[in-house]
This record gives sequence, structure tokens and C-alpha cells, in this order.
Amino acid sequence: MELSAAIDTRSSAGRLTEPGPTPLHLDRILKAGARAPDHGRLQPWRFIVLEGAMRDTFIRAAAEAKRVRLPAMTDEQLAAEREKIGRSPTIVVVGCAVNREQSKIPEMEQFAAVSAAVQNLFLSAHDLGYGVMWKTGAAAYDPHVKAAVGLKPDDHIVAILHLGTRQK
Ligand SMILES: Cc1cc2nc3c(=O)[nH]c(=O)nc-3n(C[C@H](O)[C@H](O)[C@H](O)COP(=O)(O)O)c2cc1C
Repeated sequence: MELSAAIDTRSSAGRLTEPGPTPLHLDRILKAGARAPDHGRLQPWRFIVLEGAMRDTFIRAAAEAKRVRLPAMTDEQLAAEREKIGRSPTIVVVGCAVNREQSKIPEMEQFAAVSAAVQNLFLSAHDLGYGVMWKTGAAAYDPHVKAAVGLKPDDHIVAILHLGTRQK
């Protein structure tokens, strides 16, 4: 696909199903992410592909984060939320590990570099024929969710990227 066509046709996929990106495609998508412009070449992005136990822990923590915001949520609604999050074949949490000690690059610019990386990931996945949804919500700001994916409390979750096949 031409780049301009990828940009013109990009849109979010409301509902995703199997299959998710193949390992080869996922590798290409992540490499595209790492080609983002990056002031100071700090590579502040962290692309965390959720697999195995980490995926389960993340889904539980993300659903709990929603209940913190909406305490009236019942256990059934919590279970439904977990099911909804887990429906995406592939979830990539995109973190910004801010370098505050050795770098004078402002935090906002490091965050901006990671945002550019997210768009690269999105367009690359779209180019390969996958559906994508960029989400954040309460989960992105929750310290337990950050810990579940190995981020520090003062790091940022810039995107919770859901990837898979668009469900018609
Ligand atoms: C930083 C960021 C966070 C977002 N978080 C959410 C979210 O949590 N839930 C959601 O439904 N849409 C979220 N969106 C918006 C969608 O990803 C989407 O871009 C928007 O609905 C417009 O649709 P389009 O991508 O098809 O143009 C977010 C977008 C950005 C840039």
C-alpha cells in the first residue's frame, strides 16, 4: 500500500478477532515503531507485547482500574470488562520510560516521540491488513497496571494498542 493510501484509509477497528499479527508481521510493526523521530535518540518507547501470565495480569489490573473509577461496577460487569479487553488477539502496551537523570530533553518531547512511534505502529499494522484500536482509559494511569507490564509509577502508558482482524 502507498503511504498516502495507508494514511487516507487508516481508521480504528471497533471489534477485533483472530488472527492477530503473525510473529513476522509483529516484528515488522515493532520495527516501524522504533523508526519514529526521537529528540536526543533516547528511545523512550517500550513496546510490551502481552503474552502468557503478563497478559492475564494486565487484563485483571486493567479491569480493576475501571472499577476504581466506577466503584458501582458489579463482579459480573468486572468479568465482562475482562472478557472485552481479552477479546483482542494481540495487545501491545506502549510505554514511555522517561529519562529524567541523564537527559535534558523535556519529558513532553519524550512523550511526543512515543506518540509518533504509536502512529508508526498503527500505520504499519494497517498496511499489513490488520485492524487496530488505540486505547487508554483508566488503565493507562493506574500504577498497578504499569507495574503489571514492568513500568515504573512515573513512566507513562501512551497507548494500549489492540491488534487483530477487523470483525465486520
Ligand atoms: C491518546 C489516545 C487515547 C485514546 N483512548 C481511547 C480509549 O480509551 N477508548 C476509545 O474508545 N478511544 C480512544 N481513543 C480514540 C480512538 O483510538 C480513535 O482514534 C478515535 O475514536 C477516532 O477514530 P478513528 O481512529 O477511526 O479516526 C484514543 C486516541 C488517542 C490518540
